[in-house]
Amino acid sequence: MKNLLIISSTKNSNFQLSQEIKSFFDKKENISSSVISLEELDLPLFKPSLEENFKKNNSFPIDIEKVKNKILSSDALIWCSPEYNGGVSPILTNVIAWISRATEDWKDGFKDKHSLICTSSGGNGLNFIKGFSLQLNYLGSHVMEESIVKTKKKDLNISEFESILLKFHAKFSS
Ligand SMILES: Cc1cc2nc3c(=O)[nH]c(=O)nc-3n(C[C@H](O)[C@H](O)[C@H](O)COP(=O)(O)O)c2cc1C
Repeated sequence: MKNLLIISSTKNSNFQLSQEIKSFFDKKENISSSVISLEELDLPLFKPSLEENFKKNNSFPIDIEKVKNKILSSDALIWCSPEYNGGVSPILTNVIAWISRATEDWKDGFKDKHSLICTSSGGNGLNFIKGFSLQLNYLGSHVMEESIVKTKKKDLNISEFESILLKFHAKFSS
């Protein structure tokens, strides 16, 4: 059984996209998929001084631990996140910073893991995809070249959507 974690940064169209992706994988055998919605969690803004305070008690914020454990036990990650100001949304940047500090080695959550980037954005989300892909590569992930993109004007092309998910499935399930 392979564990697939779908991470939605926001709770509207990107969460809906996450659910559509989960429905696709629910029909596949030997895949257990789950969705987490970062916007629903209590994720304080990462600041070195705040980390110091938590570390004094040998702990991290509870919801950071929750996301960390989900990430560490997953075989593959799918990210559904909007483009904000031509880049990565603060919710996602924040969680990446925390995970890199809450794991033993900063790359532990991402290293050698297959990742697929998806976005539902106002426009084509290309700057987010490029920027986030660079970041995940830097963290040691294997990022799929293709991405799933939904915009305010253009809905998903179902055959393209399924073909990208099938290719991703082949990568992490073999
Ligand atoms: C602060 C902010 C900045 C944004 N910047 C961009 C942008 O650079 N490019 C873009 O395509 N959409 C941009 N958008 C639009 C969001 O990508 C769009 O509303 C997206 O659907 C939000 O995701 P959600 O429906 O899951 O909340 C921005 C929205 C906000 C709130």
